[in-house]
Amino acid sequence: MENKPPSQTTQFILFGAMGDLAWRLVGPALFNLYLDGQLSPGFRVLGVDREVTVDALSARLRDGVRQFSRRGAPSAEQWDRFCTALDVLAMDLQDSASYTTLANRLGDGQSDAIRVFYLAIPPGLFDAVAGGLAAAGLNGNESRTRIVVEKPLGHDLASFRAIDRTLREHFAECQIYRMDHFLGKETVQNILALRFANPIFEPIWNRRYIDHVTITVAEKIGVGHRAGYYERAGALRDMVQNHLLQLMCLVAMEPPVAYDADDIRNKKLDVLRACRSIPVDQVSAFAVRGQYASGWIEGQQTAGYRDEPGIAPDSNVETYAAVKLLVDNWRWQDVPFYLRTGKCLADAVSEISIRFRDVPHNAFPAVSGVNSQPVRLVIQIQPQEGIILKFMAKEPGSPLRLRPVDMRFAYGEAFSRPSPAAYETLLHDLLLGDATLFMRSDQVQAAWQLLMPIIETWQANPAPDFPNYPAGSWGPEAAERLVARDGRAWLTPSQWHPRGAASDEH
Ligand code: BG6
Repeated sequence: MENKPPSQTTQFILFGAMGDLAWRLVGPALFNLYLDGQLSPGFRVLGVDREVTVDALSARLRDGVRQFSRRGAPSAEQWDRFCTALDVLAMDLQDSASYTTLANRLGDGQSDAIRVFYLAIPPGLFDAVAGGLAAAGLNGNESRTRIVVEKPLGHDLASFRAIDRTLREHFAECQIYRMDHFLGKETVQNILALRFANPIFEPIWNRRYIDHVTITVAEKIGVGHRAGYYERAGALRDMVQNHLLQLMCLVAMEPPVAYDADDIRNKKLDVLRACRSIPVDQVSAFAVRGQYASGWIEGQQTAGYRDEPGIAPDSNVETYAAVKLLVDNWRWQDVPFYLRTGKCLADAVSEISIRFRDVPHNAFPAVSGVNSQPVRLVIQIQPQEGIILKFMAKEPGSPLRLRPVDMRFAYGEAFSRPSPAAYETLLHDLLLGDATLFMRSDQVQAAWQLLMPIIETWQANPAPDFPNYPAGSWGPEAAERLVARDGRAWLTPSQWHPRGAASDEH
């Protein structure tokens, strides 16, 4: 990937400029790219919203930078310089005539400009905007015009197909950039480097050596101010359908021929295609849902999900989901992938744990192995960023005793350069026209297809036991049973000690 700003003028048209996404994520990322000299010299932002002025947008974005940027509040001078690139257009996105005004504003003389239409708006408006842009002739030039959409991309397979049809009616697939911000995280991108830039992992990266894989994305926060969205989504749609399946694809995919958008995305799609379908009558053997009750997090008593503002008192929405997936191919036959995610859990931690098989024969005396632990490779995504290989070593002295120890790589120690935020990486790639870290239509569709039996079953059968885990715990008991049935256990991430000590399975 080139690390240079594009040389052409770029027009970045931000729909929903006064909204939450622009405020928290897009604005801070654009500003950091600007500070890092990653925007082209003629870079312009056109903030579009129903009601917007340059002053209001500048104040709103500046507040977002102050609160959410990794660099903190901007200096007045930096901000004023950045704002010289800022312009606004107040328009009603449903009004088709206003797209002609937009086209006029963007100007004909900019035929070689890169144009990015960033839809930081609810999916219900995608149709109006994509259609309006096309009617005004703003969808042309496949290599220079891009449209960006964010999840949620649909509510189920049918609604995803409807959104996708709308977008693809007006834009070519190569123009559509579907964001999954997990793919912009440094540690997530490093999965490919770990696997394919080192010769030692690939030979053992298969069913012969790996017993199972767990992927945990645990959050301490609850639903916060997003009740309206979350009540229609839930953990399976919000996290598993995109972020967790993307992580699984990176762990399970075959080596790409080249680090190239289509090759990598083809290989990831193959993983989803190889996932065994979950029979509708066996959903409970493959998936578990949970909803948090009140509990304690960091010494604070927190409300249960049903008591949060804007949540229905009898809500059936899951705030926790765990899924077991099997990948039917030569590499992974019979190696389960256990995925789990939830809100209001005991810790905020995302990590992938690759659990290797036990030795075929233990030659050490029984007493030496009392603390014996399986070998694991743990890819820490956040908040720790690194990789740990946990293996057995001999304790000094006699009698002969073995103990688990850790070999660690920590991003912060190995590299002095701070990691860019995920949105910075993705926006940078978007401006360069590199779609490797964006989701392709067929991939999103395959992810929906895979989860539909769970979605339909859960929808048709309200959970009789909700709420079923206290805030501050590791989720519902049924999630323990999901893996225990296979003779396995989740790894509790908070039990990872730098020097490895006590048992890490519970
Ligand atoms: C978003 C989900 O996609 O990812 C949120 O909608 C979730 O519910 C968030 O909190 C987690 O992302 P991160 O980067 O904070 O781990």
